[in-house]
Amino acid sequence: MEPCYLKYITLSLNLALSISAVTSLPNSPKTKTSLKTCNFPAIFNFGDSNSDTGGLSAAFGQAPYPNGETFFHSPAGRFSDGRLIIDFIAQGLGLPYLSPYLDSVGSNFSHGANFATAGSTVRPQNTTMSQSGYSPISIDVQFVQYSDFRRRSSVFRKRGGVYEKLLPMDYYFAKALYTFDIGQNDLTSGFKQNMTFDQVKAYIPDVLRQFSNVIKNVYAQGGRSFWVHNTGPLGCLPYTLDRFPIMAARIDNHGCATPFNDVARFFNSRLKEAVVRLRKDLPLAAITYVDIYSVKHSLITQAKKLGFENPLLACCGHGGKYNYDKNRKCGSKVTVNGKEIVVAKSCKVPSVRINWDGVHYTEAANNWVYDQIINGSYSDPPIPMKMACRVMDH
Ligand SMILES: *[C@@H]1O[C@H](CO)[C@@H](O)[C@H](O)[C@H]1NC(C)=O
Ligand SMILES: *[C@@H]1O[C@H](CO)[C@@H](O)[C@H](O)[C@H]1NC(C)=O
Ligand SMILES: *[C@@H]1O[C@H](CO)[C@@H](O)[C@H](O)[C@H]1NC(C)=O
Ligand SMILES: *[C@@H]1O[C@H](CO)[C@@H](O)[C@H](O)[C@H]1NC(C)=O
Repeated sequence: MEPCYLKYITLSLNLALSISAVTSLPNSPKTKTSLKTCNFPAIFNFGDSNSDTGGLSAAFGQAPYPNGETFFHSPAGRFSDGRLIIDFIAQGLGLPYLSPYLDSVGSNFSHGANFATAGSTVRPQNTTMSQSGYSPISIDVQFVQYSDFRRRSSVFRKRGGVYEKLLPMDYYFAKALYTFDIGQNDLTSGFKQNMTFDQVKAYIPDVLRQFSNVIKNVYAQGGRSFWVHNTGPLGCLPYTLDRFPIMAARIDNHGCATPFNDVARFFNSRLKEAVVRLRKDLPLAAITYVDIYSVKHSLITQAKKLGFENPLLACCGHGGKYNYDKNRKCGSKVTVNGKEIVVAKSCKVPSVRINWDGVHYTEAANNWVYDQIINGSYSDPPIPMKMACRVMDH
């Protein structure tokens, strides 16, 4: 056991004994049920654009307006009109929105950090971002950043002053909730290289091996509570339907491309198996697998009943059957007579729409998804998010 982990135990024990009877160790002996909540003091997130709160924007340029229009009222590093699921998670746990690790302006990491960047994959890509659009900050890089962040936070907090107010306490790293939402881009990267469905399926074990390694590495540094989102219904995205028209020709009665949803479900079943293996390998870990696919699929297929409209149409985009054009993405501008005008604008009422820009979801959709997952009804094991530190008997 490394010294900082020992220190955490001492600190947590002190806290548990002195501050509050509700505060509890995240990994107390295996319990089936417990009324105690985890009181996560921090969140560390790894992922892609589904949970990027400004990482890619900080490194490569802001997601343009109208991104951010609904909630933040200006671009806020998110590919959405407002908040993402990770924002609702932070809010729901009583924590501030996560600052992106890469953002050096205005960030406050006292209760966590976000290592996700839009376009991130699990497997490092062999193409540059300008070639393929995928972020160079794949999950292995995110782990390196996390590891460095962790070590340096400890060093800098000791200097006191503002560092103490901006960086997490040492013991937070063991008590934190570690959230993961990544994999979608590993699937699309194969399709962009003209691979067949079978070729893409063939490398999924490698994706999950690399994914599992990161969880093991975080565990080795003392992380214990893991919250893993599976991947959404890829075949219901305007981006997929427009970008791969031939492969997306087989459409189900909701308008989604069956083969792409099949491959997403294949990925998810393997991810679930990987989680089962991880629980065996990491006996002190509480790993929650969250079926985001089913939640998003229900939302899209029952949109009308749930008060939403046009589930397969991008709210912010430009033309075509799905209001999506890869050359005129949300916020795209053209210059006419020396004047810049936005050609891919937002729809009138984003709050009744599900898809934001062809790839990502609206704040309203993200909020709905969050409301479904919070009580554990889409989780394995089926316990509320606030208790996701409990190690269950398997
Ligand atoms: C990149 O190339 C290496 C070496 O050929 C290979 O092992 C790896 O799987 C490739 N990665 C991807 C994402 O294709
Ligand atoms: C960082 O955020 C925490 C929690 O919201 C707050 O208590 C703290 O004062 C903030 N630090 C600074 C320097 O603003
Ligand atoms: C994929 O196929 C398209 C159409 O045949 C072609 O234009 C493109 O260059 C191919 N891409 C790769 C990476 O092979
Ligand atoms: C969980 O919350 C959703 C949304 O509020 C609700 O429909 C569902 O019945 C709840 N499930 C349980 C098990 O409480």
